[in-house]
Amino acid sequence: MRFGVFCSGGDSPGMNACVRAVVRSAVSLGHEVVGIRRGYQGLLDEDFFLNENHQPRMHLRSVSDIVHRGGTILHSARCPEFRQVAGQQKGAEVLRKHGIEGLVAIGGDGTLRGAIDLQKFWDGRVIGCPGTIDNDLFGTDYTIGFKTAVSTAVELVDKIRDTAESHERMFLVEVMGRHSGYIALHTALATGAEIVCLPETVTDIHALLKQIHLMRARGKSSILCIVAEGDELGNAFQIQQKLEAAQCPISSRVVVLGHTQRGGSPVPDDRILASLLGDFAVRSILAGKTGYLAGRINRHLTLTPFAEATAAHRQVPEELMKLLEDLTR
Ligand code: F6P
Repeated sequence: MRFGVFCSGGDSPGMNACVRAVVRSAVSLGHEVVGIRRGYQGLLDEDFFLNENHQPRMHLRSVSDIVHRGGTILHSARCPEFRQVAGQQKGAEVLRKHGIEGLVAIGGDGTLRGAIDLQKFWDGRVIGCPGTIDNDLFGTDYTIGFKTAVSTAVELVDKIRDTAESHERMFLVEVMGRHSGYIALHTALATGAEIVCLPETVTDIHALLKQIHLMRARGKSSILCIVAEGDELGNAFQIQQKLEAAQCPISSRVVVLGHTQRGGSPVPDDRILASLLGDFAVRSILAGKTGYLAGRINRHLTLTPFAEATAAHRQVPEELMKLLEDLTR
């Protein structure tokens, strides 16, 4: 069988390990792999990874020395054209033209939605691998890249705590997560942050202020507030402005961690998860499966229909919210 593999949407550490697993697994089982560069956009543009003979095929050696590298050798992109029916039809045609019968799509919710659309016009088999730092998909305990993103954020917030403590300041640190507070909550728990603002909960400026006064009264000299970029009260700068307008009792600074969280060498857990799921995606396609997200739940490899995996954004666990509340005294 000829497989296609691509990475799409926001990149995540571990995508390379996943591409490697797809290639190594498929090739060692006697199949061919076409690497599609730049996600759906590359599919429309017929932009393929060329090997040393300038052929659009990935070999065992095409994926050497990448398991530990951040980013993706296939590049990634967002593709507005693929949201249109004409783009979806063209994508299906390109797959047929190149004889691709099995596709592994590595990415987040947008990538899976794209795969649902593709299936309307293409009768090949497609399996998704959860490549996103956001950890917001149903059908897997963790997405590929989430643990690395949290580890990066924690390392940086620990540094911020030092200067916050020296200057007795509050820092509002913005982390990624347009619709999801997973990175924010895990970072807050791991750094002992006093406050967290998440898209999943209502952030009330007066309640925040009350909390800050309480912390000060308890003798806290520095305060860390982790803000998920998608908080409904606004981004970290906007929340700072609102706090200042309400006479916040402590001087504050804002740090936006931004895309630092998407880069860097994946932590071992992400490399292993990516390897397991890339291999599982290939084997699932060979077993005749299509339209599923490959995931890992309680250490079991699972397949979840795309529609279920993307039905809503996965909510942060309540017990972790409660733990944060209980421990920030
Ligand atoms: O979906 C992954 C993600 O990193 C989100 O957390 C973030 O909101 C978004 O991508 C940023 O996307 P871009 O790289 O297009 O700015």
